[in-house]
Amino acid sequence: MRPGSLKGSAKTVAVVQARMRSERLPGKVLRHIAGRPAIAHVFERLQRAETLDEIWLAGVAGAEDAPVEQVARDCGAKVYRGSEQDVVGRFVAVADASGADLVVRVTADCPMIDPTVVDRVVGRFAQGDADFVSNTIARTYPDGLDVEAFSRAALDRTDREAVDPFLRAHVTPFMHGRLRDRLPWGKFRIAQVVHEADFSHLRWTLDEADDLEFLNRVVPRLPAGYGWQEVLALLSREPWLLTVNSGHRLHEGSARDLAARGPNVPRTYSRSDAYFERAVRTIPLASQTFSKSHQQWVRGAAPLFLTKGRGCRVEDIDGNGYIDYVLGLLPVVLGYRDPDVDGAIIRQLGDGITFSLASPIEAELAERLTRLVPCAERVRFGKNGSDATTAAIRLARAHTGRDRVAVGGYHGWHDWYIGTTARDLGVPAAVRALSSKFPFNDADALEALLRADPDGFAAVILEPDGAVAPAPGFLRRVREVTDRFGIVLIFDEIITGFRMDLGGAQKRHGVTPDLASMGKAMANGMPISAIVGRADIMARMDDIFFSATFGGEALSIAAAIATIDKLEREDVIGRLWRRGDSLRDRANAALSAAGFGGVVAFKGEGWWPRLTVTRPPVDANLFTSLWRQEFNANGLLLGASLNLCLAHDEDRVETETVAAIARAAAAVRAAVDGPDPAAQLRGVPIRPTFAVR
Ligand SMILES: Cc1ncc(COP(=O)(O)O)c(C=O)c1O
Repeated sequence: MRPGSLKGSAKTVAVVQARMRSERLPGKVLRHIAGRPAIAHVFERLQRAETLDEIWLAGVAGAEDAPVEQVARDCGAKVYRGSEQDVVGRFVAVADASGADLVVRVTADCPMIDPTVVDRVVGRFAQGDADFVSNTIARTYPDGLDVEAFSRAALDRTDREAVDPFLRAHVTPFMHGRLRDRLPWGKFRIAQVVHEADFSHLRWTLDEADDLEFLNRVVPRLPAGYGWQEVLALLSREPWLLTVNSGHRLHEGSARDLAARGPNVPRTYSRSDAYFERAVRTIPLASQTFSKSHQQWVRGAAPLFLTKGRGCRVEDIDGNGYIDYVLGLLPVVLGYRDPDVDGAIIRQLGDGITFSLASPIEAELAERLTRLVPCAERVRFGKNGSDATTAAIRLARAHTGRDRVAVGGYHGWHDWYIGTTARDLGVPAAVRALSSKFPFNDADALEALLRADPDGFAAVILEPDGAVAPAPGFLRRVREVTDRFGIVLIFDEIITGFRMDLGGAQKRHGVTPDLASMGKAMANGMPISAIVGRADIMARMDDIFFSATFGGEALSIAAAIATIDKLEREDVIGRLWRRGDSLRDRANAALSAAGFGGVVAFKGEGWWPRLTVTRPPVDANLFTSLWRQEFNANGLLLGASLNLCLAHDEDRVETETVAAIARAAAAVRAAVDGPDPAAQLRGVPIRPTFAVR
C-alpha cells in the first residue's frame, strides 16, 4: 500500500472528464502544450499522486472523441466513453467498472493539475466526516488545480435524484450545493481544502486560446515533474507572463448577443453618441486625428470610441465587438496585447521609461534596422511618422544646400508637406512655394519638374508602394533622375515598412533610396518612428537640429525590438500576404455574389488589400457611408482597406469576416436598389478629409 493510500478501506479512482467539443477552444483537450496533448499532461501528473489507485478517462462516445481515448490509453489510463450530456452517467459507469469507493473528479482543462493537491483533498476525505471534499468552493488555489472528491454513495444518490440536465452535465452542483438558490441540492456533508495563502486570482486552466498561449509559455520552462510551487516561483520571477491570459474576456457577450439578434439588426451606439457630446466639449474633433474621428464613420450608426482590444478584436464603449481591420491606422501588426511585445514592455517598465542618457537598447534596435533595410546605414528615432519625414527633408536640404522638395504621397502634418494639399490653412505661402506635388507613376512629369529648376530641388519624397502600386520601372526611373540632378531620394515607408517586407518596399522592388522613413507597424502600436539612410547624409545629423525628449523612450524601443524579432521569427509578413490574398479573393466573391462585380472590390496585393469603388450606383460619399455603416452593423471595423495583423491569420476569422461582408453587401444592395438609398443611412454621412492621391 502506498503511503497515504486509502487502499484496503476505500478504492480511490481519479476520473478525468473530457470531450472534444468546446465552444471557445474546440478540441482543446488535444491541443499541444510543450509538444504534448493537454490531456496527456493531466494523466501524467495524476500518476504521481500517492493516493490514487486507478486513473480513468470518462470520455464521450463517437468517432470525434476517439483520439482522446487513444491518448488516455497511451498514458496508461483506463477508459469509459458515454453520453456527452449525461456526465453523471459517465461517472457512475466508471465507478461501476472500477469498483471505486471514492471518486476524484478532475477535468481535462487542468493540465497543470498538481498531484500534491490531489493527495491533500483525498487525505482530507480520509478523516471520514464528509461526503464531498474539494478545493473549489472557497477558492484559494489557482483556477486550474481543481479537485473534487466524493463518495460512491454520494455519486449514486446524485445519479438517482439529480434529474435536471444542468446538474447531470456539471456533476457536482447537486453535491456541493453552491447553486442551491436555483437548483436542487442533496445536502451532503461538505469539507473544504483551503490553502493558507490565497492564489485564487491565478488562471492556469485551459479554456481559451490565450490560456493555451499562457500554458505554452509556462510549462516548457518548468522542470519535469514540477510542483505548483515552482509555477508560483516562475510567475513571481517573470510576472509579465500573467498578462498573457489575464484581464477581460473580450467579445464573448457581444458575439453571442449579435448572433441572437441576427444579421443586419443595428447595434446600439448610444454610449458612443453620448460620449461624443462630452468629449467634443474639451477635445476639438473629439479625436486626435481626422482618420479616427466621427468624420470617418456614420455617426449615430457607428462606434466612436473603443475601450479594449485583444488579438484582432476590439470592443467599443457600448460593448459591441468587432474584428478590427483598421488596427489603429496600421501600427498593430501582430495583434492587440501580443504577449511577446507586452512582455518586453513590462520587463522594460521594471527598469524605467525615459532616461537621462541614451539607453543601450537604442543601438540594439538600430542594428536590426541596418541589417534589414537596404538603405539603412545609420538610424535615428522619432515618435511619429511626421518626425521622420520632416527630419529627412531637413537632412536633404542640409546635404544639398537647396530648398525645394517634390512630394508624391502623404507624408504627415508638417508645413512642408501639408502645404501641398487642400488643407493648407496656417501654412505660410513662402513655405508652400518650396514644395511641389508630382503625379505618382509619372516619371516624365517628375523629370520635367526637376529639369525646369535643375539646381533647385533638395529632395524627392514618395511612398514607394501602398495605396498606389508603382508602375514597372517607375521607381528605377526616379532613382536615375534624382541621381542625375543630385537630389536626395527619400522613400516614405511609414506604411510599407514592416508590413510589405521586413526591408520595406525598397527591398521588394530592389531600388535603394538615400533616406527612408519608417514608423507605424514597427512596435505593434507603441509610438516610435525612424529615419534611416546613407551614412554620409545621416552624418549631417550632427549639424542639423533633430531632437526629441522622448526620442529614446525605452518602452517603445523594447517593443520595437520584440516586434521586429517576432515578425522575422514567425514569418509574419509572409503569412499576412497569404492571408490577405485569400481574404481578398473570398471577399470579392461575396461582393460579386451580391451583384457588386465591377463596382466594388478589394484590390491590391495580399499585404494590404484596399476597398476600391469603381462605378458607384449612388452618390460616392453616400455609397461609402452605406458600406461603413453595414460593416459596423455586421461586426467589422473596416474602412478603406483590410489592415491585417498576425491575429487575423486564422481560418475562423477569415470565414467570419467573409460572412459579415456578404451580409453587409446584401444590406447595401437592398439600400441602393430601394427607392431612397439615402434614407437607409441611419446616421451622419462620412466626410472625406482631403484627397492625397
Ligand atoms: C506614408 C505616410 N507617411 C507619413 C505619415 C505620418 O505619420 P504620423 O501620423 O505617425 O506622423 C503617415 C501616416 O499615416 C503615412 O501614411
